[in-house]
Amino acid sequence: MKDKGYSVEWLERLKSSSNIVSVVSRYLSLTRKGATYWACCPFHHEKTPSFAVNEQGQFYHCFGWGESGDVIKFVEKLEGTDFMGAVKILAENAGIEVPEFSDDSDYLEKKKHRETLFDICRETAVYYHNMLAGGQGKKAMDYLTKRGVEQSTITRLGIGYSPNWTGLVTYLKSKGFAYSDMLESGVCGEREGKLFDEMATRVVFPVIDHRGKVVGFSGRALQDGAYAKYKNTKQTPLFNKSSNIYCINFLRKARLNKNYAILVEGQMDVVALHQAGFDNAIATMGTAFNKNHVATLSRFVDSVVVCFDGDGAGQKATAKSLEPLLAEGMDIKILELPDRLDPDEYIKKYGAEAYQKLIDNSLPVYEFEIKHEASKYDLSNRDNISKFIDGSLNIILNIPKESEKQVYINLIASISKVPKETITRQLNGMRNKVQKVAEIESKYAEVQIVQSKNYKAEQFVLASIMHKKPYVKGVESDIFVNNNFKTIYDYLVKNNFPIISKLYDDFDVENYEDLKGLINFDFSKIVDLQKEFEGCLNSLELDKLIAKQNQINAQIQTCTNEEVKLALIKRAGELSKEINEKKTLLNKVG
Ligand code: UTP
Ligand code: MN
Repeated sequence: MKDKGYSVEWLERLKSSSNIVSVVSRYLSLTRKGATYWACCPFHHEKTPSFAVNEQGQFYHCFGWGESGDVIKFVEKLEGTDFMGAVKILAENAGIEVPEFSDDSDYLEKKKHRETLFDICRETAVYYHNMLAGGQGKKAMDYLTKRGVEQSTITRLGIGYSPNWTGLVTYLKSKGFAYSDMLESGVCGEREGKLFDEMATRVVFPVIDHRGKVVGFSGRALQDGAYAKYKNTKQTPLFNKSSNIYCINFLRKARLNKNYAILVEGQMDVVALHQAGFDNAIATMGTAFNKNHVATLSRFVDSVVVCFDGDGAGQKATAKSLEPLLAEGMDIKILELPDRLDPDEYIKKYGAEAYQKLIDNSLPVYEFEIKHEASKYDLSNRDNISKFIDGSLNIILNIPKESEKQVYINLIASISKVPKETITRQLNGMRNKVQKVAEIESKYAEVQIVQSKNYKAEQFVLASIMHKKPYVKGVESDIFVNNNFKTIYDYLVKNNFPIISKLYDDFDVENYEDLKGLINFDFSKIVDLQKEFEGCLNSLELDKLIAKQNQINAQIQTCTNEEVKLALIKRAGELSKEINEKKTLLNKVG
């Protein structure tokens, strides 16, 4: 059960006066189809609507990425706020007064603790920034100046410096923070019982999240040969180097005139680009680009220009490594820098205008890859032509859109000077092979489906109950074998079969796969729901009887009391009769 800090009654009142359809309509234009309302998902880029709002159950579900939630979660995500922020917005719209917190001290404490960690990060950023400006910052200032970083950029990005190992500790202590919090926020480490500044002697870049809060730091050593050129804050409740994005906080503003981000490899590259006016430049924290990054990014831009260092674009920026982005439906272009330069060096050498030209001429990822594949071979040699075609077809094999694929077949044809009909034939041959493998895999999957037949049957029966389907009848509480299903069924009974949105109050739906599967159950795939329901119910009851029979048979084997034994044998006889009846029924139904 979740702690939210408001009383259950009040939250229910708020939710019942915030119809999810009208709330969502304030942000998106919904189209009604039957009982469901549809829109393009606001949380990720898409061209066909897969975002569904269910009025009866008062929840939304995005079929594109499988996420769902109630009206509060929707506002939370769309406004980029937290639970309390969303509650406030909804209450204001509904004209309901937000009560003082109930005595949910556990929740309040957690929230306060988190705020303390944010405060520490903010104060730390202030400290570093002031140190850079002060007398002790001269060495770092010289370094930045040498690298061409201007004062306005330092101010804008909040760049700082940590001159020593203990100054930060003293500073934070003077602000009243506890040692344990300083440690947990990741800005300090501990050695032999003493705290030290994790970024000591480094130039420090604060990492700010998309809501504008400092969550961690990245520090660069002043000497190139130093141990660990860059060092990031360790993982904390606020910071995770594999999901935070450097300079994501500027994207919201940048989006006003640009609908793309420039993804580069290094902090210094971001700094140089911002200084040159590219306020949509971002970088990961030294990790590979992944799904977490995409989920955040796709809320702000529809397209990404990937600009990796000139020495490795071909290897790094492959469609494969960018798959999470492509899967999200984002437009991805690749910008390749000449002469093994990185963006920082390129801008210094050729200037912002030249860089903008490179952006304008950047290639869609598949085109880039095919050209890169071509550059590997001397195509005047016949043998190499077929190698090039093999490689290129592998690249485009999985493009879902036929028209897009055609564009690249034409490109491959024009580079190789082989007729596009021949190339198409070869591609189809490859596709057949891939399909064969898929068929074998799906046979294997069938076996698994049989094994999980009971799970499926229980899931369908319980989903029908949860969604209050009219054909539901005759369910006995003991037919659920799966423990989670049992728990959920008991919950439904105890709460008098509530509307679905209530489940979001009482469970952490997002992290509860079995429950999520029930809420988002897709009934549209089943032709005759009533028949399916009766079939599932009978088969579950049959399994229950068989289990009972096995148990009694085992008891008969070990029973020493003749009288009891006789009673057991009689019961076993009754059970087999029941089982046979069920079996006949099932054959009729199924
Ligand atoms: P680079 O070495 O390309 O960074 O590493 P850079 O920004 O060009 O560095 P300068 O120009 O020498 O100052 C790319 C990124 O990889 C991460 C950092 O995030 C860096 O920005 N990295 C690099 C680390 O995390 N640790 C390291 O030791 C080096
Ligand atoms: Mn560099």
